[in-house]
Amino acid sequence: MALFIGVDIGGTKVLAAAVSSTGRVLRTARRSTPGRQVEAQLIEDALTEAVEEIAGVRRPSAIGIAAAGFVDAQGERVRFAPHLPWRDEGVRARLAERWSAPVVLDNDANCAARAEIAYGAVGDAQHALIVTLGTGIGGAVVLDGAVHRGYNGMAGEFGHMQVVPNGQACECGGIGCWERYCSGNALVRHVRANNGADDVTGPEITEAARAGDPVALAAFASVGEWLGIGVSNLVEAFDPEIVVVGGGLSAADDLLLGPARVAMRESLVGADHRVVPPIVRAGLGPEAGAVGAAYLARERFRSAGTRA
Ligand code: BGC
Ligand code: NA
Ligand code: ZN
Repeated sequence: MALFIGVDIGGTKVLAAAVSSTGRVLRTARRSTPGRQVEAQLIEDALTEAVEEIAGVRRPSAIGIAAAGFVDAQGERVRFAPHLPWRDEGVRARLAERWSAPVVLDNDANCAARAEIAYGAVGDAQHALIVTLGTGIGGAVVLDGAVHRGYNGMAGEFGHMQVVPNGQACECGGIGCWERYCSGNALVRHVRANNGADDVTGPEITEAARAGDPVALAAFASVGEWLGIGVSNLVEAFDPEIVVVGGGLSAADDLLLGPARVAMRESLVGADHRVVPPIVRAGLGPEAGAVGAAYLARERFRSAGTRA
Protein backbone atom coordinates (compact mmCIF):
# COMPACT_ATOMS: atom_id res chain seq x y z
CA MET A 1 0.00 0.00 0.00
CA ALA A 2 1.31 3.41 -0.94
CA LEU A 3 2.09 5.74 1.95
CA PHE A 4 1.26 9.45 1.60
CA ILE A 5 2.23 11.77 4.44
CA GLY A 6 1.18 15.33 5.14
CA VAL A 7 3.17 17.45 7.56
CA ASP A 8 1.89 20.77 8.87
CA ILE A 9 4.36 23.24 10.35
CA GLY A 10 2.84 26.08 12.31
CA GLY A 11 4.13 28.68 14.74
CA THR A 12 3.80 26.35 17.73
CA LYS A 13 3.68 22.78 16.49
CA VAL A 14 4.49 20.26 13.82
CA LEU A 15 1.87 17.65 12.96
CA ALA A 16 2.67 14.80 10.58
CA ALA A 17 -0.02 12.39 9.44
CA ALA A 18 -0.35 9.31 7.27
CA VAL A 19 -3.52 9.93 5.30
CA SER A 20 -5.65 7.43 3.34
CA SER A 21 -7.02 8.00 -0.16
CA THR A 22 -10.36 8.93 1.43
CA GLY A 23 -8.77 11.58 3.64
CA ARG A 24 -8.75 9.51 6.79
CA VAL A 25 -5.94 10.23 9.25
CA LEU A 26 -4.31 6.87 9.92
CA ARG A 27 -1.51 7.91 12.28
CA THR A 28 -0.11 11.17 13.61
CA ALA A 29 3.20 12.35 15.08
CA ARG A 30 3.77 15.67 16.81
CA ARG A 31 6.71 17.91 17.69
CA SER A 32 6.97 21.45 19.05
CA THR A 33 8.10 24.14 16.64
CA PRO A 34 11.62 25.06 17.85
CA GLY A 35 10.97 28.82 17.59
CA ARG A 36 11.08 31.69 15.15
CA GLN A 37 14.55 33.00 15.79
CA VAL A 38 16.37 29.68 15.50
CA GLU A 39 18.38 28.22 12.63
CA ALA A 40 16.13 27.07 9.77
CA GLN A 41 17.87 23.72 10.14
CA LEU A 42 16.15 23.15 13.52
CA ILE A 43 12.72 23.54 11.91
CA GLU A 44 13.70 21.03 9.26
CA ASP A 45 14.99 18.64 11.93
CA ALA A 46 11.62 18.77 13.72
CA LEU A 47 9.80 18.09 10.44
CA THR A 48 12.16 15.23 9.70
CA GLU A 49 11.61 13.63 13.11
CA ALA A 50 7.84 13.78 12.75
CA VAL A 51 7.95 12.38 9.20
CA GLU A 52 10.33 9.59 10.24
CA GLU A 53 8.10 8.66 13.14
CA ILE A 54 5.22 8.18 10.69
CA ALA A 55 7.18 6.40 7.98
CA GLY A 56 9.15 4.01 10.21
CA VAL A 57 10.95 1.59 7.90
CA ARG A 58 8.65 2.32 4.95
CA ARG A 59 9.50 4.62 2.09
CA PRO A 60 6.72 7.17 1.54
CA SER A 61 5.35 7.53 -2.00
CA ALA A 62 5.29 11.30 -1.47
CA ILE A 63 5.18 13.86 1.32
CA GLY A 64 3.30 17.14 1.35
CA ILE A 65 4.39 20.07 3.50
CA ALA A 66 1.82 22.61 4.72
CA ALA A 67 3.91 25.61 5.79
CA ALA A 68 2.78 28.59 7.85
CA GLY A 69 4.26 31.06 5.43
CA PHE A 70 4.43 32.58 1.97
CA VAL A 71 5.17 29.82 -0.54
CA ASP A 72 6.23 30.91 -4.03
CA ALA A 73 4.08 30.27 -7.11
CA GLN A 74 6.25 27.29 -8.10
CA GLY A 75 5.87 25.57 -4.72
CA GLU A 76 9.64 25.51 -4.27
CA ARG A 77 10.48 28.11 -1.66
CA VAL A 78 9.15 29.58 1.53
CA ARG A 79 9.76 33.24 0.74
CA PHE A 80 8.75 34.63 4.13
CA ALA A 81 7.11 33.35 7.29
CA PRO A 82 6.16 35.69 10.15
CA HIS A 83 6.28 32.90 12.76
CA LEU A 84 9.14 30.78 11.36
CA PRO A 85 12.81 31.45 10.52
CA TRP A 86 12.50 30.52 6.81
CA ARG A 87 13.49 33.40 4.49
CA ASP A 88 13.73 32.53 0.79
CA GLU A 89 14.57 28.95 1.62
CA GLY A 90 14.42 26.26 -1.06
CA VAL A 91 12.60 23.99 1.34
CA ARG A 92 11.01 21.62 -1.17
CA ALA A 93 14.16 20.44 -2.92
CA ARG A 94 16.23 20.37 0.27
CA LEU A 95 13.75 18.16 2.11
CA ALA A 96 13.11 15.93 -0.93
CA GLU A 97 16.80 15.19 -0.93
CA ARG A 98 17.01 14.70 2.80
CA TRP A 99 13.97 12.40 2.84
CA SER A 100 14.74 10.59 -0.44
CA ALA A 101 11.11 11.04 -1.45
CA PRO A 102 9.05 13.32 -3.69
CA VAL A 103 7.94 16.43 -1.78
CA VAL A 104 5.29 19.06 -2.51
CA LEU A 105 4.97 22.35 -0.66
CA ASP A 106 2.19 24.87 -0.16
CA ASN A 107 0.89 27.36 2.38
CA ASP A 108 -0.83 25.71 5.37
CA ALA A 109 -4.21 27.39 4.87
CA ASN A 110 -4.16 26.57 1.15
CA CYS A 111 -3.58 22.94 2.11
CA ALA A 112 -6.43 23.11 4.64
CA ALA A 113 -8.65 24.49 1.88
CA ARG A 114 -7.83 21.54 -0.40
CA ALA A 115 -8.73 19.10 2.38
CA GLU A 116 -11.98 20.94 3.09
CA ILE A 117 -12.82 20.86 -0.64
CA ALA A 118 -12.00 17.16 -1.06
CA TYR A 119 -13.38 15.77 2.21
CA GLY A 120 -14.66 18.53 4.45
CA ALA A 121 -16.96 21.49 4.92
CA VAL A 122 -16.67 23.18 1.51
CA GLY A 123 -18.74 20.40 -0.05
CA ASP A 124 -20.03 21.38 -3.48
CA ALA A 125 -19.55 25.13 -3.00
CA GLN A 126 -17.56 26.64 -5.89
CA HIS A 127 -16.74 29.87 -4.08
CA ALA A 128 -15.51 29.65 -0.51
CA LEU A 129 -13.21 31.29 1.99
CA ILE A 130 -11.13 29.39 4.50
CA VAL A 131 -9.84 31.13 7.59
CA THR A 132 -7.64 29.18 10.03
CA LEU A 133 -7.03 30.50 13.52
CA GLY A 134 -3.94 29.29 15.33
CA THR A 135 -0.77 31.20 16.20
CA GLY A 136 -1.86 33.59 13.45
CA ILE A 137 -4.58 33.71 10.80
CA GLY A 138 -4.26 31.57 7.71
CA GLY A 139 -6.42 32.24 4.69
CA ALA A 140 -7.40 30.68 1.41
CA VAL A 141 -9.62 31.81 -1.43
CA VAL A 142 -11.54 29.15 -3.36
CA LEU A 143 -12.74 30.40 -6.75
CA ASP A 144 -14.54 28.16 -9.23
CA GLY A 145 -13.73 25.16 -7.07
CA ALA A 146 -9.95 25.70 -6.95
CA VAL A 147 -7.54 27.38 -4.54
CA HIS A 148 -6.57 30.75 -5.97
CA ARG A 149 -2.83 31.23 -5.38
CA GLY A 150 -2.28 34.65 -6.97
CA TYR A 151 0.69 36.01 -8.93
CA ASN A 152 3.34 35.39 -6.26
CA GLY A 153 1.56 32.37 -4.78
CA MET A 154 0.68 34.60 -1.84
CA ALA A 155 -3.05 35.20 -2.17
CA GLY A 156 -5.06 34.70 1.01
CA GLU A 157 -2.68 36.35 3.47
CA PHE A 158 -5.68 37.76 5.29
CA GLY A 159 -3.98 37.77 8.67
CA HIS A 160 -1.81 40.74 7.77
CA MET A 161 -4.53 43.05 6.52
CA GLN A 162 -4.24 46.15 8.68
CA VAL A 163 -7.34 46.57 10.79
CA VAL A 164 -6.06 48.99 13.44
CA PRO A 165 -3.86 51.92 12.34
CA ASN A 166 -1.21 52.45 15.05
CA GLY A 167 -2.29 49.13 16.54
CA GLN A 168 -0.26 46.27 17.91
CA ALA A 169 3.04 45.25 16.37
CA CYS A 170 2.92 42.01 14.42
CA GLU A 171 5.64 39.40 13.96
CA CYS A 172 5.51 40.13 10.20
CA GLY A 173 6.91 43.62 10.86
CA GLY A 174 3.55 45.30 10.27
CA ILE A 175 1.31 47.21 12.66
CA GLY A 176 -2.29 46.47 13.59
CA CYS A 177 -2.59 43.24 11.58
CA TRP A 178 -5.90 41.35 11.83
CA GLU A 179 -4.20 38.29 13.37
CA ARG A 180 -3.04 40.38 16.33
CA TYR A 181 -6.72 40.69 17.33
CA CYS A 182 -8.12 37.43 16.06
CA SER A 183 -6.07 34.27 16.69
CA GLY A 184 -5.04 31.83 19.40
CA ASN A 185 -2.34 34.30 20.41
CA ALA A 186 -4.90 37.12 20.64
CA LEU A 187 -7.18 35.01 22.84
CA VAL A 188 -4.38 34.15 25.23
CA ARG A 189 -3.14 37.74 25.34
CA HIS A 190 -6.64 38.96 26.14
CA VAL A 191 -6.97 36.64 29.14
CA ARG A 192 -3.44 37.24 30.39
CA ALA A 193 -4.02 40.98 30.33
CA ASN A 194 -7.26 40.63 32.28
CA ASN A 195 -6.49 38.13 35.00
CA GLY A 196 -2.70 38.07 35.25
CA ALA A 197 -2.50 34.32 34.53
CA ASP A 198 0.53 34.44 32.30
CA ASP A 199 0.78 30.75 31.54
CA VAL A 200 -2.83 30.06 30.54
CA THR A 201 -3.28 28.22 27.22
CA GLY A 202 -5.91 28.36 24.47
CA PRO A 203 -7.51 25.00 25.36
CA GLU A 204 -7.70 26.07 29.03
CA ILE A 205 -9.46 29.28 28.04
CA THR A 206 -11.95 27.28 25.97
CA GLU A 207 -12.63 25.03 28.94
CA ALA A 208 -13.05 28.01 31.27
CA ALA A 209 -15.43 29.72 28.84
CA ARG A 210 -17.55 26.56 28.64
CA ALA A 211 -17.73 26.62 32.43
CA GLY A 212 -18.98 30.24 32.28
CA ASP A 213 -15.81 32.06 33.32
CA PRO A 214 -16.47 35.76 32.49
CA VAL A 215 -12.88 36.64 31.51
CA ALA A 216 -12.68 33.68 29.14
CA LEU A 217 -16.09 34.50 27.69
CA ALA A 218 -15.05 38.12 27.15
CA ALA A 219 -11.92 36.95 25.34
CA PHE A 220 -14.02 34.81 22.98
CA ALA A 221 -16.47 37.68 22.49
CA SER A 222 -13.60 39.94 21.42
CA VAL A 223 -11.82 37.43 19.17
CA GLY A 224 -15.18 36.32 17.72
CA GLU A 225 -16.21 39.89 16.99
CA TRP A 226 -12.92 40.57 15.23
CA LEU A 227 -13.45 37.38 13.26
CA GLY A 228 -16.88 38.52 12.11
CA ILE A 229 -15.67 41.99 11.15
CA GLY A 230 -12.75 40.64 9.12
CA VAL A 231 -14.88 37.98 7.47
CA SER A 232 -17.50 40.55 6.45
CA ASN A 233 -14.79 42.51 4.61
CA LEU A 234 -13.66 39.33 2.86
CA VAL A 235 -17.24 38.44 1.96
CA GLU A 236 -17.61 41.90 0.45
CA ALA A 237 -14.49 41.24 -1.64
CA PHE A 238 -15.13 37.65 -2.75
CA ASP A 239 -18.87 36.95 -2.32
CA PRO A 240 -18.40 33.30 -1.25
CA GLU A 241 -21.10 30.72 -0.72
CA ILE A 242 -19.58 29.51 2.54
CA VAL A 243 -16.92 30.57 5.04
CA VAL A 244 -15.03 27.75 6.76
CA VAL A 245 -13.17 28.41 10.00
CA GLY A 246 -10.41 25.97 10.98
CA GLY A 247 -7.21 25.88 13.00
CA GLY A 248 -6.74 25.07 16.67
CA LEU A 249 -9.14 27.75 17.87
CA SER A 250 -12.03 26.35 15.83
CA ALA A 251 -12.36 23.61 18.48
CA ALA A 252 -14.17 26.27 20.54
CA ASP A 253 -16.97 26.12 17.95
CA ASP A 254 -19.96 28.31 18.89
CA LEU A 255 -18.05 30.14 21.61
CA LEU A 256 -16.11 31.68 18.74
CA LEU A 257 -18.45 31.35 15.76
CA GLY A 258 -21.51 32.68 17.63
CA PRO A 259 -20.11 36.19 18.15
CA ALA A 260 -18.49 36.03 14.70
CA ARG A 261 -21.84 35.37 12.96
CA VAL A 262 -23.47 38.30 14.77
CA ALA A 263 -20.63 40.70 13.98
CA MET A 264 -20.41 39.61 10.36
CA ARG A 265 -24.10 40.15 9.74
CA GLU A 266 -23.97 43.55 11.45
CA SER A 267 -21.13 44.84 9.31
CA LEU A 268 -21.88 43.15 5.99
CA VAL A 269 -23.10 45.56 3.34
CA GLY A 270 -26.53 44.76 1.91
CA ALA A 271 -27.02 41.86 4.32
CA ASP A 272 -30.80 41.95 3.80
CA HIS A 273 -30.41 41.80 0.03
CA ARG A 274 -28.07 38.87 -0.43
CA VAL A 275 -27.60 35.30 0.68
CA VAL A 276 -25.35 35.77 3.70
CA PRO A 277 -22.82 32.90 3.70
CA PRO A 278 -22.84 30.60 6.71
CA ILE A 279 -19.73 30.59 8.89
CA VAL A 280 -19.05 26.94 9.64
CA ARG A 281 -16.43 24.99 11.51
CA ALA A 282 -13.83 23.10 9.42
CA GLY A 283 -14.84 19.50 8.81
CA LEU A 284 -11.30 18.23 9.39
CA GLY A 285 -10.59 20.47 12.37
CA PRO A 286 -6.99 21.31 13.16
CA GLU A 287 -5.74 18.36 11.07
CA ALA A 288 -6.95 19.92 7.81
CA GLY A 289 -3.51 21.32 6.89
CA ALA A 290 -1.77 17.94 7.17
CA VAL A 291 -4.62 16.16 5.37
CA GLY A 292 -4.55 18.70 2.55
CA ALA A 293 -0.77 18.44 2.20
CA ALA A 294 -1.05 14.64 1.90
CA TYR A 295 -3.85 15.12 -0.63
CA LEU A 296 -1.64 17.41 -2.71
CA ALA A 297 1.20 14.86 -2.55
CA ARG A 298 -1.16 12.08 -3.63
CA GLU A 299 -2.61 14.13 -6.51
CA ARG A 300 0.84 15.03 -7.79
CA PHE A 301 2.55 11.65 -7.31
CA ARG A 302 -0.25 9.11 -7.45
CA SER A 303 1.36 7.26 -10.33
CA ALA A 304 4.82 7.23 -8.72
CA GLY A 305 3.99 4.52 -6.19
CA THR A 306 1.57 1.68 -5.94
CA ARG A 307 -2.01 2.81 -5.57
CA ALA A 308 -3.48 2.98 -2.10
C1 BGC B 1 1.14 33.58 7.89
C2 BGC B 1 0.43 32.68 6.91
C3 BGC B 1 -0.06 31.43 7.60
C4 BGC B 1 -0.82 31.78 8.85
C5 BGC B 1 -1.32 30.58 9.61
C6 BGC B 1 0.27 33.82 9.09
O1 BGC B 1 0.92 34.63 10.01
O2 BGC B 1 1.46 34.80 7.27
O3 BGC B 1 1.26 32.36 5.82
O4 BGC B 1 -0.89 30.72 6.70
O5 BGC B 1 -0.07 32.60 9.70
O6 BGC B 1 -0.33 29.70 9.98
NA1 NA C 1 -3.06 30.98 2.03
ZN1 ZN D 1 1.28 40.97 10.33
